[in-house]
Amino acid sequence: MVIWNGLELEQIGIVASRSRETDAECILLEGKEKEVTSETLVLVDNRNGNKILAVCRGGVGYNDNLKIDYYNPGVAYARSGRGPSTAKEFFSFKLVVIGDVTDGEVKQNKTIIAPASLVYKFKGDSNPMKLFGNIKNVIGYYALGAPLWKVPTLTEYIPHHIGVFGVTGSGKSFLCRYELIPLLRRAGYDVLIFDWKGSDYAPFYPDSVINMGDIKLDEASIFGYLAERLDKFGGGRIAETLLRYLEEALSEGSWRGSDPTETKSRLLAAVERNIWGENTDRSGNLNEWGQRYLRRARIYFERLRPEDIKPVMGEMSASEIIDMLRRKKTLVIDLSYGSKEQKLSIFLSIARWLKGLMEEKNRLNIAVVVDEAPQYCPWNPRGIEEETTRQIIGLAALGRSYGLSLVLISQGIAGEIGINAAVRRNLNTLFIGRIHPLDAQEAERFFATSWISADSLLRLPEGHFYMVGKMNPSPVPLLVSFEIEEREKIGFGRG
Ligand SMILES: Nc1ncnc2c1ncn2[C@@H]1O[C@H](COP(=O)(O)OP(=O)(O)OP(=O)(O)O)[C@@H](O)[C@H]1O
Ligand SMILES: [Mg+2]
Repeated sequence: MVIWNGLELEQIGIVASRSRETDAECILLEGKEKEVTSETLVLVDNRNGNKILAVCRGGVGYNDNLKIDYYNPGVAYARSGRGPSTAKEFFSFKLVVIGDVTDGEVKQNKTIIAPASLVYKFKGDSNPMKLFGNIKNVIGYYALGAPLWKVPTLTEYIPHHIGVFGVTGSGKSFLCRYELIPLLRRAGYDVLIFDWKGSDYAPFYPDSVINMGDIKLDEASIFGYLAERLDKFGGGRIAETLLRYLEEALSEGSWRGSDPTETKSRLLAAVERNIWGENTDRSGNLNEWGQRYLRRARIYFERLRPEDIKPVMGEMSASEIIDMLRRKKTLVIDLSYGSKEQKLSIFLSIARWLKGLMEEKNRLNIAVVVDEAPQYCPWNPRGIEEETTRQIIGLAALGRSYGLSLVLISQGIAGEIGINAAVRRNLNTLFIGRIHPLDAQEAERFFATSWISADSLLRLPEGHFYMVGKMNPSPVPLLVSFEIEEREKIGFGRG
């Protein structure tokens, strides 16, 4: 055993030829193949003078007696069911270099790793994470290490936005609840969570939940929402004019009643006033166009139910919500019970307010967590999604300068199951858990030079995520996991 820098090390192999400065093969000492696995962290004592932290990936087993590219005695033995010799057997791992750690911080390694350099693993109690230097904030722990191997994260990159990806049940919401949200809080951000299903976050912050029905929509959101609910009056020229009348009616402002039924009739009355205002003949009667407008308006208003109207009657404004967020520090907007347009209208109302604050050059220190992100910014947005996608892109751009961080959570990365490509480009740090086979190609791009195959991404257990991007102090993705409370493990979870 060797001690370096207070860390207990145990030799597991030596560097093979050919080696480079970014990676090398390691031949394992006999028996170590049972202890060393992919993602094991190792230290290379480079004979060329420095110490290099690396991670084992892409393991291979060799046995000359069992080569199958031609018929040979080994193959003959195997065929006849007799055991061939394992004398010529050995194992190797690809060492993917994280960096030069000689001086107590991670630097890019520029020295060629000398073949025959010794390779060590870290013994249980010694924590290699301290080799990343003095980094204040941590997330989870290194999945192939001990729970005390907390993974350092660079919180200054939080406003460069975060994506969390993984198939359903891969642990995205748990990662957010147990690790990301606490990390954001520690880094000084107030966290505003849009809980699409109302079950992932709202029950866990019982004193800090706002129900969607209580929220006052801004004028543009009310118009967008009602237009969708009214099926845009069916389309065509008549509908276009009617939408203008509706917009004017809303901006007149006297349409709010004491209940949804009264509100609905006031709104219709205001639209009808606008129809009368522009479509009378010389004797003051409604002309032919006016009658068409009136008929169409009434047909579509007839279909509005009280629960369609309710969402426009909330009283709590976006500015009051942000005040509440400042007091509570973490605030959940419960979006269950509502149509998609209702949910997205609420998001838009708040997003526009935040955008306004940033345009006035306020530094926000707010993180906006959006679970089920493809509902807001799908790959091919339609209707109200076009506006939410646009707003998210706008928030992302301003957020980098004014301390607004977007945390988008999605089952898929790209294509039909993923999020909009223009939005995705704005997410600098990614947590990638078990992916969907449709995403295999997309995911491999993030891991191109780090020897993580789509195969292994398709098989990650729940609660395991590769951290990729600027918040990761390592240039290669690190596998992060985290502990959850016993009662929340499968079988003991919420019913
Ligand atoms: N770190 C962990 N360790 C052990 N089990 C975990 C861990 N994280 C999550 N799980 C298990 O995985 C289950 C699913 O997690 P979660 O609800 O976060 O998935 P999700 O990715 O958000 O799924 P969906 O896309 O359906 O919302 C949890 O109920 C929990 O039992
Ligand atoms: Mg979830």
